[in-house]
Amino acid sequence: MAAVWLEAMEHAVSLARTAGTLVREAVQRDMKVMMKSCSVDLVTQTDQKVEQLIVKSVKEKFPTHSFIGEESVAAGEPCVLSDAPTWIVDPVDGTTNFVHGFPFVAVSIGFAVNKQLLFGVVYSCMDDRMFSALRGGGAFCDHQPLRVSDQTDIHQSIVATEFGSCRDPDVVDKIFSSMKRILSLPVHGIRGVGTAALNLCLVASGSVEAYYEIGVHCWDYAAGALIVEEAGGVLMDVDGGPLDLMSRRVLAANCRSIAEQLVQQIQIFSPERDDADTESGAARDLKFH
Ligand code: IPD
Ligand code: CA
Repeated sequence: MAAVWLEAMEHAVSLARTAGTLVREAVQRDMKVMMKSCSVDLVTQTDQKVEQLIVKSVKEKFPTHSFIGEESVAAGEPCVLSDAPTWIVDPVDGTTNFVHGFPFVAVSIGFAVNKQLLFGVVYSCMDDRMFSALRGGGAFCDHQPLRVSDQTDIHQSIVATEFGSCRDPDVVDKIFSSMKRILSLPVHGIRGVGTAALNLCLVASGSVEAYYEIGVHCWDYAAGALIVEEAGGVLMDVDGGPLDLMSRRVLAANCRSIAEQLVQQIQIFSPERDDADTESGAARDLKFH
């Protein structure tokens, strides 16, 4: 691994820790909550402030690198994954949790070169745990190696998933239908902590056997995906094809057989891809409430 990528990863870890401190401090204060695509897609000034801090620091230290960040894209920046070294950042993953004081919030920083993830850093802000993985170097939580569960029987598994922020009735029906089918296999349980990044870290830690979601964004799952892979897990699209970072669909599991059994149960839908409008749109209106 080139020294410059290791340096970038060390920088990501340090930025995630600084960002996490800002998030923890902000939870104590009143916050102004704004809406993005709909009334349940929330953003706060902390999301924006943390992303600005990360962008500024990355641009100063690695001026040739590209950047995809949730709040930059919301403000009209293009969402393009080129072959250039690219930072893929969610400053606050679990914004709804953050707004409500539900204690699962993460800073997620993925890094790809030639469209391949090279490192992933997920900082769990509320319990001060740093998850990280470097391609080929394993996955760790606070320097302890991570390993996925060795369970191979889906009936003895916990599956994590989320309801997401789309309230289109057809989509909601499909989400519930998938959950009903999986629950009825049966599995031991269905869980979800309200952040894609931490759901992926739960797969990497062996606490759940699998996680899937349709409607997430690349910044939600880039870092966590590599952490799962480096912990010995498998990644795929919810239709069983290869994982696509721009497709907004992810399935991560401890083993291929559990992943493939989930593919049989998941009701597929296809949200607009993250790179659908790469020309850069006008900044979306932010509504206050
Ligand atoms: C959300 C979280 C949530 C998932 C949503 C994501 P955000 O990210 O990861 O768990 O269900 O699909 O958009 O908006 O809190 O960064
Ligand atoms: Ca976010």
